[in-house]
Amino acid sequence: MKIEVFKENFESIQADCSVAWVWDKNLDNLADKTILQELNFKDMALVQGSKTLYVNVAQKNSDCLREGAYKAVRYLNALTYKSVKIPTFLDEELDYAITLGALSGSYEFDKYKSEKKPFTLQTLCFSNLSQKLIEKAQILFDSLKLVRDLVNTPPCDATPSYLAEISKSEAQKLGIECKVLDKKEIEREKMHSLLSVARASSEEPKVIHLSYKPKNAKAKLVFVGKGLTYDSGGLSLKPSEFMVTMKADKSGGCASLGIILAIARLNLPLEVHTIIGAVENMIGGNAYKPDDVLSSREGKSIEVRNTDAEGRLVLVDCLSYAQDLAPDYLIDLATLTGACVVGLGEYTFGIMGHNEELKSVFEREALKSGELVAKLPFNSHIRKLIDSKIADICNVASNRYGGAISAGMFLSEFIRKENEQKWLHLDIAGPAYVEREWDINPYGGSGAGVRACVEFAISLCEEK
Ligand code: BES
Ligand code: ZN
Ligand code: ZN
Repeated sequence: MKIEVFKENFESIQADCSVAWVWDKNLDNLADKTILQELNFKDMALVQGSKTLYVNVAQKNSDCLREGAYKAVRYLNALTYKSVKIPTFLDEELDYAITLGALSGSYEFDKYKSEKKPFTLQTLCFSNLSQKLIEKAQILFDSLKLVRDLVNTPPCDATPSYLAEISKSEAQKLGIECKVLDKKEIEREKMHSLLSVARASSEEPKVIHLSYKPKNAKAKLVFVGKGLTYDSGGLSLKPSEFMVTMKADKSGGCASLGIILAIARLNLPLEVHTIIGAVENMIGGNAYKPDDVLSSREGKSIEVRNTDAEGRLVLVDCLSYAQDLAPDYLIDLATLTGACVVGLGEYTFGIMGHNEELKSVFEREALKSGELVAKLPFNSHIRKLIDSKIADICNVASNRYGGAISAGMFLSEFIRKENEQKWLHLDIAGPAYVEREWDINPYGGSGAGVRACVEFAISLCEEK
């Protein structure tokens, strides 16, 4: 989708059709008022005569306008117009939301369809939008698109090696570093917890380490992503209806790739690293088992009582590797628990950690970015549920309540004292994969976490 910006005012722009915002169903002062009344206007209506798509917006804020622009583009794409003009407000926040929403509406995943439906709508026309704003929206959308494509790619193709290859080629395009640790190197790193999860798969695990190191860096951020290219549950096998969609268990890893690419393209003065634990959780004669005790890179032993709680086993070794980089901020992203989806619903992701202020700042920036988030509190009672009788810690809690928090507290056991205040855990299991379209998210991978983390990174540059 191309964006064209015109110097003249909105009315004078020549486009095949236009969008008009309707504020909370108020039709007064609209040119097509009578027709819209006859059409019993509710959410959206196209008036053929004036080639205007009227889009209802409940409130004049960025969330409603972002969604409105997204819906408008998706609606128009079923028609024959090649260009559309969309009104903006000379307000950076609102106009950015509109641009990102409209771009997001152009997303289509048809790689595996024999017949591809070409996107008829090709150009978005705006009046008086700043180049900087368009660039930011374009960069964010490109990252969302990459993440969505990767998450949507089926597990037969999107293997750990595939994620590594894509990471390398994307890094090369931007001139940032990408080191891929193969099985031997992962062994040398003593990441035995991660390796145990990978053992029954015929796909070799990869630990992918990307880095962006500008000269003027003000802080060092390390993102760690759960990259389970498939989660069958392992020997604690998932029931078949829960196994479907588990190609999306790589969403955290893919998001952390999208985040570093966006930050590098925005030229933010931050040193950023992304560590992706790319692994497949399968069954087989050599599979790791419930009852096994694993050793981890941080030196703690782990009793396995459920092989489906594999994400945390991959993450702790990646978090250990990440901490050797001496981050100022350490953020992990993972589709970690079904419990988080039960607790917060499928639209909201969970923020956990020990630093109240950091959690609040992140929450604020995430909400500003248009993502829905909520803080989940750690407590000492839930911590006791992951005590093990035979090892240092157990990979599942002895009680099923508070599963998102006990998973977060398991990760916390592997965070060194000096990093406790620098660490955030984001459980994106709810919004990472969309089965019923909502907000600016089409069916499939959503790119959850990308907008929030990039907005947080931007805020770090503004504050100092
Ligand atoms: N990948 C799943 C979590 C998940 C569930 C993500 C639904 C997205 C949607 C994770 O590896 C898992 O299976 N977790 C278990 C943990 C349990 C065994 C303690 C879960 O949530 O049931
Ligand atoms: Zn699992
Ligand atoms: Zn998983």
